[in-house]
Amino acid sequence: MAKTHRVTFKKSGITIEVAEDEYILEKAEEAGMDLPYDCRSGTCTTCMQRCLEGEVDQDLAFAISDEELEEGYRLICIGSPLSDVTLDA
Ligand code: FES
Repeated sequence: MAKTHRVTFKKSGITIEVAEDEYILEKAEEAGMDLPYDCRSGTCTTCMQRCLEGEVDQDLAFAISDEELEEGYRLICIGSPLSDVTLDA
């Protein structure tokens, strides 16, 4: 069974549990959050959120630039937590 981490949405004041084989966007929706998205496949950047703490897997993040990654942005539609994570959302 995949390891689970806590994902905190700082502005919303919501914390959810997301496993390393699940996507943050999907679990946030299940928790009742209404976050922006479009393609849900890592190609449009609509779901991009800034990661303040922790690591988010971005193996399928085709549309994000190196600069955006450096600035802490992550695509959460294809993003799985690799540690406890805090997002600025
Ligand atoms: S919804 Fe398009 S990259 Fe995430």
